[in-house]
Amino acid sequence: MKNRILVTGGAGYIGSHTAVELQNAGYEVIIIDDLSNSTADSIDGIERITGKRPIFEKLDCNDFVALEALFQKYEGISGIIHFAASKAVGESVQKPLLYYRNNLNSLINLLDLMPKYKVSGIVFSSSCTVYGEPDQNPIDETAPIKPAMSPYGNTKQINEEIIADFIKSGADIKSIILRYFNPIGAHPSAEIGELPNGVPQNLVPFITQTAIGVRQELSVFGNDYNTPDGSCVRDFINVVDLAKAHVIAIDRMLGNKSDDKVEIFNLGTGNGLSVLQLINVFEKVSGEKLNYKIVGRRGGDIEKIWADPVKANTVLGWTAKETVEDTVLSAWKWQLKLREKGIM
Ligand code: UD1
Repeated sequence: MKNRILVTGGAGYIGSHTAVELQNAGYEVIIIDDLSNSTADSIDGIERITGKRPIFEKLDCNDFVALEALFQKYEGISGIIHFAASKAVGESVQKPLLYYRNNLNSLINLLDLMPKYKVSGIVFSSSCTVYGEPDQNPIDETAPIKPAMSPYGNTKQINEEIIADFIKSGADIKSIILRYFNPIGAHPSAEIGELPNGVPQNLVPFITQTAIGVRQELSVFGNDYNTPDGSCVRDFINVVDLAKAHVIAIDRMLGNKSDDKVEIFNLGTGNGLSVLQLINVFEKVSGEKLNYKIVGRRGGDIEKIWADPVKANTVLGWTAKETVEDTVLSAWKWQLKLREKGIM
């Protein structure tokens, strides 16, 4: 048995896919999640895919006492992957305190406990949103951090600084910061996928829920951006590809394969696709006509951003492999499975 890994937010979208890949690689996975934007059904899904049920505790990382009790209950946790966070750009503009409280306290609590419980490293779930509106694309890790476009983005910037400052202060831990672009799609088994509680804030679950009739119409936020078709451009990255990068990061961190105590990697495909182009891909692979209308811009949105993933390609030996067509189709199959099960 390999090391014990704590996955915060592991019942959620990216966390559940990462738990699968960790278990497939032989790691023992402990998931904690407050289920504020997920359900424990994903734990069943992880078990169906891997044949092994991860340890699961319903727990809010903001609850320091409960978190410390967890480290006492499960001794020998060697690494953490920290996904647990509020993550909707638009909502963060409306509810900034919720975002600052959730996203900053949870990281501080984890870091605080790591040295005491001899946890050697933390992989942090960051976002390309830390770059703000890029001067040029594709964007690599050396690009300046610009003022955040939203409180959500700001929490990611501050969290990256908190990690760096803590390590600079002499804390004996390592960290790998992964800046995701736009993760989409689902596991090919359709056993796990993206299922936010309530109305989806992210594009793809809103598309698939509209196509299946749960939502009436998709609003496309803006067609007056300085992009080829006027809608925002993103780097849509397959969630299983993304999950695999976390296993590589954990192997690297726990295997002390780098002398750097903090490393940062972009995780993206290197290709930009507009919101309207993604809708076209969806219509093509699903055979469904999507009901959508153009509305005004959404607060906090970046106009266009896509990754230069060369550092992850060369240093981690990781490359995004899945096509956007297969990825969008996997999201649709997940939606169809939810319908078949009567969940949505
Ligand atoms: C942002 C981050 C991303 C992070 C994600 C977490 C950026 C560039 N990216 O993604 O790294 O993982 O938050 O939530 O900041 N849209 C619509 N209609 C909808 C929903 C979305 O038109 O109903 C549009 C948005 O305006 C945006 C695009 O689709 O242009 C993608 O939106 P979304 O899926 O919410 O992700 P980001 O905000 O880009």
